[in-house]
Order: sequence, then structure tokens, then C-alpha cells
Amino acid sequence: MFIRTKNLSYTYLAGTPLMVRALRGIDLAIARGSFTVLLGASGSGKSTLLQHFNGLLRPTEGSILIEGEPLKYGRRELRELRRRIGLVFQEPESQFFSETLFDEIAFAPRNFGLTPSLVQERVSQALRQVGLDDPALVNRSPFHLSAGQQRLAAIAAVLAMQPQALILDEPGSGLDQVGQQRLFSLLQQLNRAGVTVVVVTHRLEQIVPLADHFLVLHRGRLVLQGPPEGIFSRVEELHRCGLSVPPVMKLVEVLRKAGLPLSPALHSLEELRREIGAWWKGGDAP
Ligand SMILES: Nc1ncnc2c1ncn2[C@@H]1O[C@H](COP(=O)(O)OP(=O)(O)O)[C@@H](O)[C@H]1O
Ligand SMILES: [Mg+2]
Repeated sequence: MFIRTKNLSYTYLAGTPLMVRALRGIDLAIARGSFTVLLGASGSGKSTLLQHFNGLLRPTEGSILIEGEPLKYGRRELRELRRRIGLVFQEPESQFFSETLFDEIAFAPRNFGLTPSLVQERVSQALRQVGLDDPALVNRSPFHLSAGQQRLAAIAAVLAMQPQALILDEPGSGLDQVGQQRLFSLLQQLNRAGVTVVVVTHRLEQIVPLADHFLVLHRGRLVLQGPPEGIFSRVEELHRCGLSVPPVMKLVEVLRKAGLPLSPALHSLEELRREIGAWWKGGDAP
């Protein structure tokens, strides 16, 4: 397992009247190379959990293991961890601080002491990966890019460290449909190239086809985890967790309960049409 947590709990402002128990007894496992989606209603603890994966928050109780090794919180260990596990915050562009796009992307590689030519290489590669490899853009202020370009630039800044895992907190929020689609196909490409992806998103219809593993948080507890088939067949449970299942998936569940031999993780009308078509032609209609 790449990332594992054991009985992880986190409490904000512990010991004060404002204390919030944000995570309780989380046991989860994220395999290397997987594409994991973290779901949960607002306030369920998603952002708090993600910030544990690269050591920004430290469990109040329990532990985190990275490839079987308990995470250590010394300066050097954290630096190494953050090179391996890149975290893209929600609205990451709000943290831009460089004068040019180039410098923004070059920040981490420079910080890790790479030579100027290696820095140049990393920046070019990261910009190419996100599709911002336009010579007209590199010297532009990152603040003068479009919203979609800014989001991609923020992701490129993390990719420039060539992390083994990319963790993203609602990366599509604030982007239009085209921007979101572009972002999700980038995540798919990265995942196919071997990068472990963990993403918080509410865009189920778009993300389900890409993901192989789901985690569902409800009020700080991990209530479901597993492959899509096991998650989206539990429409009522998801509903209790404040999650709305896309209408197509609800329809599939109703049809399955009525006895149609459909696969449980159908997520588009087109797939549903194809399966019903195949079943119909197969001649096993009642
Ligand atoms: N810095 C903070 N100080 C105190 N409480 C916080 C802080 N950040 C989050 N919380 C609380 O922790 C809980 C989980 O929050 P969060 O992880 O942001 O949830 P989500 O990302 O799922 O919306 C919420 O009750 C939230 O109010
Ligand atoms: Mg959040």
C-alpha cells in the first residue's frame, strides 16, 4: 500500500471550548497507481484528511504509513515527503507569488537545489504536461492568466517536483465545463503514466469513469471505501451522507433491484443503453 492510515483522528483546537473533532478513527488504504476519489458532504473532513497525507497536519491520534513506514515529522523527512506527495490546495492560484509563470513553476525545483538547466527542463516538462507550453505565456505574470490557465499552472507547479502521488482538493471548483473536462483528462493521463491520484470532487458523473477507488467520509468517519461497484449500489447510504448520486446511477440501481442483469457501476446513459441493448439481443428477456 502506498498510503495507509491507522485509527487516525484529528481534533482542531483540542482542549479549548472551540474544539472540533474533524476526523475519527480513520483506517484507509490507497494503493500505488490507483485513482482515488474522496467524497463527503461539506464539513465531513475531506480537506483535513488530505492535509495529513503530506504532513501538513499531524494526527491527534493514530498514524499514517507511507509504503509501510510510519510518517516522520522532522524537517528533512517532511521535505522528502512533499517531494513525493504533491498537494494541490483548493483555489491554489490564490497562493501565487512569482512575477512570471516560469518562476512560479520553477520555485520548488530551485528550492530542491536542482541546477538551472534541470530547473529549465522540469519547468518545460510540467508546462507541457498541463498544456501551457506556449512561449508567449512563460514570461507572463501568473496573475494575468485566465482562471483555467491559473489552475493548470498551479498543478504544473506541483508536477515540477515529479511527485509519485498527486493530491487535489476540489480542483475543478470555479472552472467551467470545458476547464473541468480538461483537468480531469489531465488527471487521467497522469494516472495512466503511473502517478497515484487522490482527488476531492463533487463531479461524480465526470470522475466515476476515471476512478477505481472511492472513500466516503461522513461527519469525520470513513463510512465506505472500495471500488465503484460497491459504492454506487448504496444509493440510500450515500444519500444519508449528504451525497447525491447522479440520476443515471439511481436508475441503474432501481433496474438492478427489479432484476435486470446490469453492471453496478454504469455512469452514463450511453453505457446503460449499450448494456440494455446487449441484454435484449441476448434473448434472456423475461
Ligand atoms: N482551521 C480550522 N479550525 C477549526 N475547525 C476547522 C478548521 N478547518 C476545518 N475545521 C472544521 O473541521 C471540520 C472538517 O472540515 P474540512 O476538513 O474543511 O471539511 P470538508 O473539506 O469536507 O468540507 C468542519 O467541522 C470544519 O468546520
Ligand atoms: Mg474542503
